[in-house]
Amino acid sequence: MATLTDVNLRHDKIDTILSKYPFAETFLTNNGVDVTNFRENSLDDYFKSLDPEHIEDHAIDPEHLLDQFSVFISQMLSFLGEDDKVVESITILPGHDKSGKTENFSEFIIQKNEIVSIVGPTGSGKSRLLGDIEWAAQNDTPTGRSILINGKTPDKKWRYSSSEKLVAQLSQNMNFVMDMSVFEFLELHAESRMVTDSETVIKRIIEEANNLAGEKFDPNTPITALSGGQSRALMIADTAILSKSPIILIDEIENAGIDRKKALKLLLSEDKIVLMATHDPVLALMGNRRIVIKNGGILKIIETTEEEKEILTEIEELDKKVMTMREKLRNGEKLTS
Ligand SMILES: Nc1ncnc2c1ncn2[C@@H]1O[C@H](COP(=O)(O)OP(=O)(O)OP(=O)(O)O)[C@@H](O)[C@H]1O
Ligand SMILES: [Mg+2]
Repeated sequence: MATLTDVNLRHDKIDTILSKYPFAETFLTNNGVDVTNFRENSLDDYFKSLDPEHIEDHAIDPEHLLDQFSVFISQMLSFLGEDDKVVESITILPGHDKSGKTENFSEFIIQKNEIVSIVGPTGSGKSRLLGDIEWAAQNDTPTGRSILINGKTPDKKWRYSSSEKLVAQLSQNMNFVMDMSVFEFLELHAESRMVTDSETVIKRIIEEANNLAGEKFDPNTPITALSGGQSRALMIADTAILSKSPIILIDEIENAGIDRKKALKLLLSEDKIVLMATHDPVLALMGNRRIVIKNGGILKIIETTEEEKEILTEIEELDKKVMTMREKLRNGEKLTS
């Protein structure tokens, strides 16, 4: 179990706490703590700044809140498995493309805390590469690649234990769960991952999922009645909050019609390795590096340049415009120039 000896929740700068535990912000927001203007101060400063009348009116109990905060962070740390499953790196060893030609690199190492995107034409082999990593391929997939974890051939547990993996890919899993409500489905997950306070966790997952999707669903909704986007959102929230895997594989988050930037933010937590296959320039450039796939093989690995980061800002502006139009159309409005 993780302990919080490394931070002082009462006296450390709020910014420091949030950069260490990005998920902590949700807790504060959910508890009505608005730290927007207090990031450079401590929680203690924040509480002291509150008007006593406000404290009384809103029944704020700083001591209780600090206790709860500490419990929340410890629980999240153990859900995320940060103490027991440390993956420092993934290494991809070359296989061959669809024509049988050996891939032109000696090894590709991805360190923790890195986002790597995977780009390439439709059918070129992006999902296949994610599949190789998910399966921890050992020269036994169509590509002939091998995957090392921390520089070594991985333990078999990577293959057979579902709680060791983390793939935000819902479609295959969905077929297994007929006649279940969202709540029952999540309860099953929470139980298999040995969560103690499952009720709270389930509530949070549904909240976060609804935060990503369009129309909201409730815990009693049958899982089969969810739309494509809603089920993807649910799986992403489930993955982010319940899974212990240190590696996150994302296959085309953009087509689900969900808020992809929010989704990525939710998925990203400290010490994770994120690989995402994408056709979306915004997501492609959000990686520090991108793998270019062609004809089933890794063609090259490109580091995102400073210039590209600047261009990304421009694309994001354009993207916002498109999103606004999309929202208007969805809500039955007419577009005007
Ligand atoms: N190196 C390879 N050798 C043989 N077959 C391969 C290789 N790489 C990929 N394939 C096969 O090619 C097909 C298409 O690959 P994949 O589904 O990964 O494409 P994709 O890039 O994800 O496409 P999309 O953008 O449409 O999702 C799959 O059947 C996959 O198994
Ligand atoms: Mg694909």
